Amino acid sequence: MQKKELLYEGKAKKVYKTEDPEVYIVSYKDDATAFNGLKKGTIVGKGVVNNEMSNFMFRMLEKEGIPTHYIEELNERETAVKKVTIVPLEVIIRNVAAGSLSKRLGLPEGTALKCPVLEFSYKNDELGDPMVNDYHILAMDLATREELDQIAQMSFKINQLMVDFFKSVKVDLIDFKIEFGKTSDGQIILADEISPDTCRFWDSDTHEKLDKDRFRRDMGGVEEAYEEMMRRLGLRK
Ligand code: TMP
Repeated sequence: MQKKELLYEGKAKKVYKTEDPEVYIVSYKDDATAFNGLKKGTIVGKGVVNNEMSNFMFRMLEKEGIPTHYIEELNERETAVKKVTIVPLEVIIRNVAAGSLSKRLGLPEGTALKCPVLEFSYKNDELGDPMVNDYHILAMDLATREELDQIAQMSFKINQLMVDFFKSVKVDLIDFKIEFGKTSDGQIILADEISPDTCRFWDSDTHEKLDKDRFRRDMGGVEEAYEEMMRRLGLRK
């Protein structure tokens, strides 16, 4: 599998075409941004962690019946994935109040939620990824009712599988963001990444943050937190 034309460069990843029109290669960078690109930095080794952790999670979810874009890890930063058109929605699932939900609703970080909360954001950097609901999504034709129902159903199942898995390695899954894509034959599959960039992970005992909030909030120990998550997954000694 060879990288051909650069198709897209995002804040944390590059996507290349390959000789197979149905296969792309994703290449993970160490670049880190927060607050819609306002804060910029580098997290050394992040590209490797995010590539390897995402692939680990995608393989686990595939085994549990969730279709994903994952095909094959090519090297520590690069992975072959199925070509999809990304549904322009960020799907956020929350189990515990934190981040923007805490701010918006005045719930202290760490407040348990009685049931998981699903939120959608419209993927649009110029607008700062505004939160939208089903009606906005249908009115703007970002997805059909059927696609939206499927996305919600898959997202809650992914949440349950991830909560249970992370609990087994002493990590609380506070919240996360996922994205879905549509294949050439119209199937909705899980795409993008699942990593400390896109999830909030708190140590179950100490509640220490093991994710990108350490970068967003200038807490230090960012690289160490990413490496600790890799150890919990058994991907590092
Ligand atoms: P929030 O509390 O800032 O809305 O973030 C919720 C979850 O989504 C958190 O796990 C971090 C993740 N996230 C992303 O992956 N990308 C983003 O651009 C933002 C704002 C959040």
